[in-house]
Amino acid sequence: MRSLRIPLIPSSEITPRHVFEARRGFLRQAGSVALAASGLTASLAQRTQAETAPAVKLAAKPNPAYALAEQPTPYKDVTGYNNFYEFGTDKRDPAERAHTLKTRPWTLQVDGLVKTPMTFAIDDLIKIAPLEERVYRHRCVEGWSMVVPWIGFPLAELLQRVGPTGDAKYVEFTSLADQKQMPGIGSGVLDWPYREGLRLDEANHPLTLLTFGLYGEVLPPQNGAPVRIVVPWKYGFKSAKSIVKISLTNRLPLTSWNRTAPEEYGFYSNVNPNVDHPRWSQATERRIGAGTLFAPKQKTLMFNGYEAQVGQLYAGMDLRKFF
Ligand code: MTE
Repeated sequence: MRSLRIPLIPSSEITPRHVFEARRGFLRQAGSVALAASGLTASLAQRTQAETAPAVKLAAKPNPAYALAEQPTPYKDVTGYNNFYEFGTDKRDPAERAHTLKTRPWTLQVDGLVKTPMTFAIDDLIKIAPLEERVYRHRCVEGWSMVVPWIGFPLAELLQRVGPTGDAKYVEFTSLADQKQMPGIGSGVLDWPYREGLRLDEANHPLTLLTFGLYGEVLPPQNGAPVRIVVPWKYGFKSAKSIVKISLTNRLPLTSWNRTAPEEYGFYSNVNPNVDHPRWSQATERRIGAGTLFAPKQKTLMFNGYEAQVGQLYAGMDLRKFF
């Protein structure tokens, strides 16, 4: 049973309340420690199998404008400690289970308020602009963070090809929701399909990356293969994984987390150490892979350290109200 593993942060602190409570109820029913121990062994065996799946290389030129002095998080943590609720709510579920995700054939539909709606086969999409490697800070709303060498190109490159109309104000992302491939879809944990959104100027910001790989390889399924969004100045949940649709709209998109718990997950979700989550502080974070459970936390930076690049997008806005 997964809760026997020692989490880096107590799960009461990091897990959305409804998920935590559902899991605790389940544990109470399951009861015995012996059963729990055997579950742990089985899932560890599966994990080893999933993690040894052959990696496919993906060439990309490092972009020095997005290098960081900080040490990248070890590959095993980037690909072994994930949130991808379509495959379960435990951090290790995606690495164990996401090998069932079929990433070919795969298409990405781009529609809505655009001059030229287009549907791209994934192997064509990846070629529309040069791939870059960019090392970004990646901060989860739960209070942990990583440093990840992603591979992709700016989402703006794609948006430019479809041509947003003058009415377009927002961009909505929709992830795949296929219960046959994704065991978590049957659960009521979130409102499926996973949906996220950005304002059009945020989506067009050069930092916003349409992402196909990490660490010189194509994205492993648990990190959102074959294509995801990465928005490094926002909490990780804004970065939708395994996306199948991008729609331009003139209405604020209804996002999965906002629908599930609006008081906890606002539309903007900019990393902001001055605005606490209703149940915990956002002032500090724990860098995954940087040591033991007792390693000191580090201070969270405004906009996750990208204030100079994105601060002007929010000039004049009350960031407590638009959290
Ligand atoms: N996208 C989908 N489709 N489903 C999810 O559950 N989780 C989000 C985000 N994108 C999620 C998702 C959350 S909460 C985080 S923190 C990041 O993915 C985690 O990305 P990583 O596992 O690559 O670190």
